[in-house]
This record gives sequence, structure tokens and C-alpha cells, in this order.
Amino acid sequence: MELNIPKHIAIIMDGNGRWAKKRGMPRTAGHKQGAENIRKIAIACNELGVQALTCYAFSTENWKRPESEVEYLCKLPKLFFHRYLEELRKNNIKVTFLGELDRFPKETRNVIETAVEKTKDNTGLILCLAVNYGSRREIMLAAQQYASTCLEQGNVVDLDEDMFASYLMTNGMPEVDLMIRTSGELRISNFLLWQLAYAEFIFTPIAWPDFTKEELVKAIEEYTLRHRRFGGL
Ligand code: IPE
Ligand code: IPE
Ligand code: MG
Repeated sequence: MELNIPKHIAIIMDGNGRWAKKRGMPRTAGHKQGAENIRKIAIACNELGVQALTCYAFSTENWKRPESEVEYLCKLPKLFFHRYLEELRKNNIKVTFLGELDRFPKETRNVIETAVEKTKDNTGLILCLAVNYGSRREIMLAAQQYASTCLEQGNVVDLDEDMFASYLMTNGMPEVDLMIRTSGELRISNFLLWQLAYAEFIFTPIAWPDFTKEELVKAIEEYTLRHRRFGGL
């Protein structure tokens, strides 16, 4: 089958905790394995010619988890980039992020900002990590920014969908074509509410640490068979 490669794939990487529990390991072991899988899937997307991959790594709601788990998740970017930044860089992958970094420890912020800086001239896959990201907050912040623009200009500035989208954290990224959620949950969990308007959805029971390149290709095959109408015929 000739694959229709989505320009932008967004993944809700769910099921790390259950993956670990099934193996009698602590939830953090699942998160570690999950982080390693980001590297694999990013390299696979890059090889397939996907332009952008957005991975939901930490939501604005995930702060509700036990302190020890939150602490581990906050440290994960350091572990991840320490191990893989060089490889990502060599693969021409450009790292970006969505979300507000200010709530993270300084070291975590630095590590993410360094990864962005060191890969900013790369022209391959955009690997965008959603960290401390929540879409309702993103949309609310966009509305606030728009209101500030109006105040500055002293009148109600004309607004259209493209202009509103430019206030969102995904500004400049291609439209999301395909959204994949692993581990069986059938919900969006505050991810890219605006951007998923016409994305194709694939839900798989496979836990994120077990989601392989083969599974990714299967998802793209299913996407290729979908008939996207965008409201037309
Ligand atoms: C996804 O795995 C990773 C994050 C939300 C940080 P979970 O930690 O949600 O794993 P489950 O859903 O409890 O199995
Ligand atoms: C969504 O997973 C957030 C991330 C994958 C980062 P959750 O595990 O937090 O979602 P819910 O709580 O099951 O909706
Ligand atoms: Mg979960």
C-alpha cells in the first residue's frame, strides 16, 4: 500500500503506569521506558517523512499525581536529552515544546531550552514535546493576548481563525492530521482541543512503551484508508 504520510502526528502517550504495574515495576519505570520510546518513534517519523510529531508528555492536570511521581516526571527531560539529544541532533530533528516551563525546576527548564537551541537549525522532523500543557489554558491565554492587542491598539481588532490560531502555542506548525492515543482510553484529556478539529483519531489498546514503529506504520495505513471530507462531500 502506498502510504499517505500525515504532515503532523500528535500522540497521547498513555499507559506508562499500567505497563510498569503489569511487570511488577514502579510507575516511574514505565515513564522511563516511555521516554525511550519517544526517541524510537521520533526517528521512525523522521524516516517516514512526517513533518511534525507532537507528544503529550505532561499535562496541566498531571500535577495532581503523588509528589514522588511528579518529581520523577519533572526530571525525565534531563535524562532523556542527556541520553538522546546528540542522536536527535545528528538525525536532523528539531526539538520544540508546547506548554509553560516556568513551573518546572530550573534544571529541567534549562535542559529543554538547550535542546531547542541546539537543534533550531535542523530541517528534519519537528519533535514537539507538550509539557505542562493543557489546551483550555492555551486557548484562554490566546484570548488574553488578543485582548491585550485590542487594548494596545485602542479598538476591537479584526479577528479570523488563522489569526486566532497564531496566538496558540502551536503557531507555525502544520495542521494535525492524525491523533493517536495509546493504552485504550477513549478521550482527549485536554490535548490540542482547537487543533484536532479535523484530525483523524486512532485509539489503540497498546501501552505507550510497547508502541513500536510497526504499530506506527499500521496507524498510518489506517489513516491512508480514511476519507477526509472536512465537511464537504
Ligand atoms: C502516560 O502514562 C504518561 C503521563 C501521563 C505522564 P500514565 O502515567 O498516565 O500511565 P497510566 O495511564 O496510569 O497507565
Ligand atoms: C494524558 O494522560 C496526559 C498525558 C499523556 C501526558 P492521563 O493519563 O493524564 O489522562 P487521564 O487522566 O487518563 O485522562
Ligand atoms: Mg494515563
